[in-house]
Amino acid sequence: MRTDSEHTIYLKDYTPSPYTIVAVDLDFRITAEGTRVRALLTVEPREGTEPGTPLVLDGNELTLTSVAIDGAPLMVSSYAADADSLTIVEPPLRRFVLETEVSLKPETNTRLMGLYRSSGTWCTQCEPEGFRRITYYLDRPDNLAVFRVTMTAPRDIAPVLLANGNKVAAGDAGDGMHYAVWEDPHLKPAYLFALVAGDLGSITDNFTTASGRKVDLAIYCEHGKEDQCHWAMDSLKRSMSWDERRFGREYDLDIFNIVAVSDFNFGAMENKGLNIFNDKLVFAKPDTATDGDYENIERVIAHEYFHNWTGNRITCRDWFQLCLKEGLTVYRDQEFTSDERSRAVKRISDVQTLRSAQFPEDGGPLAHPARPDQYREINNFYTATVYEKGAEIVRMLATLLGEAGFRKGMDLYFERHDGRATTIEAFLAVFAEANQIDLGQFQTWYLQAGTPKLTVSDSYDAAAQTYRLKLEQKTEPTPGQPTKQALVMPIKFGLIGPNGSPMGWSHVSGGDVRDDMIVLSGDSAEIVFTGVANRPVPSLLRGFSAPVNMTTTLTQDDRLFLARHDSDPFGRWQALQDVSMALAVGAVNGTPWAEDAVTALRQAMADTLANDNLDDAFKALALVLPGEALIARTIGKDIDPAKIHDVRDQLNRAVFGPLTSQVTAAYIKLTSDLPYAPDAASSGRRALRNRLLGLLVASGASEGPKLAAQQYADASNMTDRFAALAVSGAAWTGEAPVLLADFRTRFGGDPLVLDKWLSVSASAQDDGVLERVRAILADPNFPKNNPNRLRALVGAFAMNNPTQFARPDGAGFRFVADFVADVDTRNPQVAARVLTGFRIWPMLEPVRRAAAKSALTTLQSKGGLSRNTADILTRTLAG
Ligand code: ARG
Ligand code: ZN
Repeated sequence: MRTDSEHTIYLKDYTPSPYTIVAVDLDFRITAEGTRVRALLTVEPREGTEPGTPLVLDGNELTLTSVAIDGAPLMVSSYAADADSLTIVEPPLRRFVLETEVSLKPETNTRLMGLYRSSGTWCTQCEPEGFRRITYYLDRPDNLAVFRVTMTAPRDIAPVLLANGNKVAAGDAGDGMHYAVWEDPHLKPAYLFALVAGDLGSITDNFTTASGRKVDLAIYCEHGKEDQCHWAMDSLKRSMSWDERRFGREYDLDIFNIVAVSDFNFGAMENKGLNIFNDKLVFAKPDTATDGDYENIERVIAHEYFHNWTGNRITCRDWFQLCLKEGLTVYRDQEFTSDERSRAVKRISDVQTLRSAQFPEDGGPLAHPARPDQYREINNFYTATVYEKGAEIVRMLATLLGEAGFRKGMDLYFERHDGRATTIEAFLAVFAEANQIDLGQFQTWYLQAGTPKLTVSDSYDAAAQTYRLKLEQKTEPTPGQPTKQALVMPIKFGLIGPNGSPMGWSHVSGGDVRDDMIVLSGDSAEIVFTGVANRPVPSLLRGFSAPVNMTTTLTQDDRLFLARHDSDPFGRWQALQDVSMALAVGAVNGTPWAEDAVTALRQAMADTLANDNLDDAFKALALVLPGEALIARTIGKDIDPAKIHDVRDQLNRAVFGPLTSQVTAAYIKLTSDLPYAPDAASSGRRALRNRLLGLLVASGASEGPKLAAQQYADASNMTDRFAALAVSGAAWTGEAPVLLADFRTRFGGDPLVLDKWLSVSASAQDDGVLERVRAILADPNFPKNNPNRLRALVGAFAMNNPTQFARPDGAGFRFVADFVADVDTRNPQVAARVLTGFRIWPMLEPVRRAAAKSALTTLQSKGGLSRNTADILTRTLAG
């Protein structure tokens, strides 16, 4: 076996291919025994290609059965084929048709890349390099071609035959077989190819675009689940209409199909006209899906739909440019959710995601730039940095340019690059041109890894009536990038006067200050505001206007003041978090909190709860202490997760314990018997009520565990039932085992609900959890090839169980490492993803650090790992 773990691909080596495939005609003959694929590829040499330049096509695990050019079979001396490539030694220097035939075994494809079977349905996943597992091809995103697809399959097991574009023919093929022909008129890279063949139910609808084109919409799923697809359909129509209103983008085919499958390596895929989804991001009904599930479905349906313009019509030149489509499309789906729901709440939860998923990546051994410049395995770069930091970079661009300037740039982007494969440079160039500005320094955000530290101190001179802000930025080295440059940071801000209202100034000097925004572009700046009548409290980084770690010299009193008076909801939320974080970090580091400091925080929390001007959903986010993982990373070194767990537990008791009667009263008041609706206001009310239940349990209120059990039993929807289960499980209350057993019996037959049970089971932080998780995994009925089940159980254990994953005896680490080794033989992507849970290891205290390292080195010494897993392992260990 070839070991290609040393094979690194560099951005600087990018060269266009000497040949282009301009048209593809595929013929699939699908049977339960195997699939045969015949490909007619129309190939053209690029201008300037020298005679004798070989044509090298990508393949992966393919078996070639015939090869011909323009109808004439090739002699064995004129080509070389193995499972992973096909070379035509001396192709004609003119347009020609290369004809190949390969045979595939989708039934044994457990990697879930290329053509595979999920619960009997044939489906594909090609991004980024899955198409080469279907046929030999120039499997690179800059090769754009038109596709025609003929599929022949048994009518009884595959009555539904779908591919990209429009269906142009269908009929009987004899012997119980039937066929369909699909044509996609739009140029596309192979990673957007898709087909589906199976016995599926569907719901249909339609959408009329702004220019009057009627589009037929359908969502396909396992029979019997049709009634769970309506929310996804509703989300799709709202997405289509939003993209017209907000970005002037219409859909461009007569058909838009979505297919839900149960075995899928990630969330969903934007194949042209035929999106394929992990079914957990399609199915929803009130008694099995939570509000969070509804919101995720809406978001991902929107995300994949928005890719039609940002990703499909304009695609990436090479995979280094992945965030060109992903960062931009995440930004677009974030804006969609903000417009459909609450902008403030969405911003806060996006920042929580960024801090819990991207900051740890950026601050650990797997740190990489949003646009990496090298990779060994591209699948390992579908990361929070590419997606979430990528979206933050686009958001900063919008902040710097303003809404109109940003839209001008986007319009020019669509106009100039439609139908092409392009780069980050080209993306930035349209904004620079449309706004007549230089974005040279701004580009560093894409090139430099690491979360910048922004340090701000202030001082007030009463006699001179001047106020000074001193800002400094610094980015620590990351793997491969020892020195860092200063970044351009838009820092939205406001000054707040003693009475809580905004404060002005007569003159400002010493920095780039534009109305409500400071733009820091050097290492530091000192900004002087004159004509300031009183000492203001500054509200800094409003709306989290740059993805940085900010520390300030503000006092706890200043922060509590902001928590009450900041007009920016994000700022109020952040202020409460900062107050809590200071107490938690102090206590972990050996300085117990002072009683009056806790009293002040408690009062601020109580006032937040009582404030009628705040949304329920906002309160739900505010009335919570920073999570254990965030506290750990704020401390940053020699982490003892057990100690952090205990401190947070005590702080919960100290802050919220004395509020039991207020919290209980508010909880009761929010009880409602209205029928379930997934809208923002109703879900906000449930979020707050469930947060209050969480507080009662976490703060040790004697009634808490009983109340949770009661809510579990009485719940009329999954949101409330699952919340009760989750808080009981997290605290491992006396009732938790009974509730878990009941949940398992009630819902064990629904795999998506079973995942919730698996996650709660794996997230309990009691000492018995590892044995329970082992037992679940060892059950012969556990579906050990389904990515959702595996991630729900072992992914949750490695990512959401800081104390038990990082047990000092190393048993948690060894369990996960053994799991990775086993799953890696079947599905390397799932294995590699779970392994990233180890990225915390360099920050742990010495005993746990050594235990983690030993589990990792043992894994490495086993050898035979996939390229995916070997790449993550090597980089993790090097950190
Ligand atoms: N393009 C898809 C999306 O963002 C995700 C593809 C993920 N691919 C992967 N290899 N992880 O919606
Ligand atoms: Zn995407």
